[in-house]
Amino acid sequence: MPITKLEEAVLDEHFIKYSYVKGFTATQSDTALFLQFESAPHKDLPHLLRWYTHIKSFGSERLKFPGCKETFLSFSSNCTKVNIMVDKTLEEGEVVADGQQQEQTEDFVDPWTVRASSNKGIDYDKLIDRFGSSRIDEALLERFEKITGHKPHHFLRRGIFFSHRELNRILNLVEAGKTFFLYTGRGPSSEAMHVGHLIPFIMTKWLQDVFDVPLVVQLTDDEKYLWKDLKLEQCNKLAYENAKDIIAIGFDINKTFIFSDVDFVSGDFYKNVLRVQKHVTFNQVKGIFGFDESSNIGKIMFPAIQAAPSFSSSFPFIFGGKKDIPCLIPCAIDQDPYFRMTRDVAPRIGLQKPALIHSTFFPALQGAGSKMSASDENSSIFLTDTPNQIKKKINKYAFSGGKDTIEEHRALGGDCEVDVSYMYLTFFMEDDTRLEEIRREYSAGNMLTGELKAELIKILQNMISEHQERRKSVTDEVVKQYMTPRPLNFHSKS
Ligand code: TYM
Repeated sequence: MPITKLEEAVLDEHFIKYSYVKGFTATQSDTALFLQFESAPHKDLPHLLRWYTHIKSFGSERLKFPGCKETFLSFSSNCTKVNIMVDKTLEEGEVVADGQQQEQTEDFVDPWTVRASSNKGIDYDKLIDRFGSSRIDEALLERFEKITGHKPHHFLRRGIFFSHRELNRILNLVEAGKTFFLYTGRGPSSEAMHVGHLIPFIMTKWLQDVFDVPLVVQLTDDEKYLWKDLKLEQCNKLAYENAKDIIAIGFDINKTFIFSDVDFVSGDFYKNVLRVQKHVTFNQVKGIFGFDESSNIGKIMFPAIQAAPSFSSSFPFIFGGKKDIPCLIPCAIDQDPYFRMTRDVAPRIGLQKPALIHSTFFPALQGAGSKMSASDENSSIFLTDTPNQIKKKINKYAFSGGKDTIEEHRALGGDCEVDVSYMYLTFFMEDDTRLEEIRREYSAGNMLTGELKAELIKILQNMISEHQERRKSVTDEVVKQYMTPRPLNFHSKS
């Protein structure tokens, strides 16, 4: 049954206050409601349109939202109540099997979906167990400091980078005076990157400065073309736009090579892609990535392309054809499935397993339980936001752990565990002492949500406007230099 104009108006009102049908977490009710729409809502209903675009961006992943389907949904606004029947025939392949319902209440993380079952976000301890990685603990950080002579970055000290695979092996090499290289990447699906995307790049820049090592950055315009409803030329263009933001983070031009898969994959790089492809079966990628018979064949082979930069022999112009220079990959933990596969295949093709460090997720404004989406401008802060937009978004959308009234807040205190503004400060406030003071004062009720938000707004406004200034000086010519295959300036001691 198509949605009526009245129902649309009531829904628009609903989505002023709420991110989803049931508050701040996407559920099967969103999926069911989404299916009632035959096309996008009119732009005169901006809140409903935002919700629609956001739910649409999940693609078939919306079938995995938690919760059960209902036969009707009830909404009310301004004394108008509407009941929307959601009994439309399910899309093909859409039935969520009973056995899967149990799983929907658990966290889910893969390269395309990050879903927490609570507003406190993902349970990262459980994820370490499930993925079989290792925790970055105090002992490892002490060793890091001893070997590098650098106090670990606050992302490491605060557990934002919380998990690793064989970081010890990289430290052993450094201790023995040998070298390694860094590899990270970005899937260019939108012009504006959000601040969450910055996290692995900020870490990578710091590691490049500390270790003085080369870096390769892969822009997977091919991946985005295969997964998203975008034209190939558009993805390729976005790769070059995103490269500007990556360069603006400050990577050393003499030690950094950035490439678009569409333009670069060939020669020695492609030979490694083929080696990986020959040693991984369809059954294996089905198990790791959830592909099935209806997945396009580009998706099925793509993981080999994300694997190839882990091997130094893919870049003979940098490493002179050496096969054995080890690689360290900083990324958020959603990318780990690619590298579990890479680590599994590497010894079988006579190459080194890459080491990894994993970050937690920078949460969406609406809460650590909901997903940040590049197609929903209100779900995050973007690198293109103006100071005023930043202020408005934080004040209006950042989920607060404060209490409903000032009296109650003063008496009971705020909850930093769910407060998005506080979480954002843990990422971007460098001063440990001030951060701890804020945590204490807010939890005790001495500091109000508005005051907490004001501190965050100042930090983000400065950070983003400084980034925008640096980006202005990244011309097409500069991008071309970073993206030209060439020798990099480092001393090979492997
Ligand atoms: P993409 O473009 O989805 O994300 C780019 C990088 O940002 C991380 N990330 C986040 N980190 C913290 N909080 C968030 N909310 C958040 N959202 C995304 C991702 O983990 C990633 O590190 N397939 C990749 C591109 C890629 C890549 C790589 C990434 C190719 N090779 C090697 C890392 C390492 C992608 O689409 O990333």
